[in-house]
Amino acid sequence: MRFDRDRLSDPHRPTLLILGGRGHASDVLSIIEDVSADQVFPFDIVISDDDLPDSPRFDDREVEVALEIEPELKSDRYFVAGVGYPQIRKLLVDRALAESVQPTPAIVHPSAVMATGANAGQGTVIAGVTWISAMVSIGVHAYVGYGVKVGHDSIVGDFASLMPGAAIGGSCRIGEGALIGANAVVLQNLTVGEGAVVGAGAVVVENVPAGATVVGVPARPLES
Ligand SMILES: CC(C)(COP(=O)(O)OP(=O)(O)OC[C@H]1O[C@@H](n2cnc3c(N)ncnc32)[C@H](O)[C@@H]1OP(=O)(O)O)[C@@H](O)C(=O)NCCC(=O)NCCS
Repeated sequence: MRFDRDRLSDPHRPTLLILGGRGHASDVLSIIEDVSADQVFPFDIVISDDDLPDSPRFDDREVEVALEIEPELKSDRYFVAGVGYPQIRKLLVDRALAESVQPTPAIVHPSAVMATGANAGQGTVIAGVTWISAMVSIGVHAYVGYGVKVGHDSIVGDFASLMPGAAIGGSCRIGEGALIGANAVVLQNLTVGEGAVVGAGAVVVENVPAGATVVGVPARPLES
């Protein structure tokens, strides 16, 4: 363990625990920094993962690595998931909640547009240059990558991941834990079922069943 126990035990220096330590965590950290580390999240930042982060991004930073959630991190601490895959994110979030670590409110990059009535739940991270249209509802612990557009009145489920550049039409339903690949398009009024995966660059023209993986233009089930 490399974290500074004296500093973590200081109640005036709350800690933000990023669950994950690889590229996605690096992106989440960058978003948090842009949100304004001094004002909105005045936290020491701890990266947690089973592996040490291998990204050079971390080399010159004062971040610490926790291999698991230590007792010092459990109470009066906050966490956000830093893993792109919905199922792994859910595992980590469940672990943190079970250990009474508090989720952050939604973290929304300052360059994201949240239109009238758009909202996002706790632990959700919304990257930069995103457009979340009117009345869109995004659940908890979801991820919205940079450049994503979500059309009006759509509902994005808990733990869903919208990868960079994805475009979701109006009045869509993206199920819990679904992953929409980079630059994929989901046409308006469609449902992508719980845990489904839409491949990068796909164009979804009909509903996608729960758990299915679809690819291509138009999107078709990936033969296993
Ligand atoms: C769809 C996806 C989940 C499939 O992953 P997988 O199950 O590991 O599949 P494989 O890589 O073994 O590929 C299986 C077949 O599907 C094809 N395929 C994979 N992804 C594809 C895609 N996005 N579009 C079209 N075909 C694709 C492969 O070429 C391969 O075809 P083949 O059997 O004819 O050789 C994955 O390729 C994908 O697109 N994930 C999203 C990634 C993403 O957006 N990441 C964000 C980066 S920032």
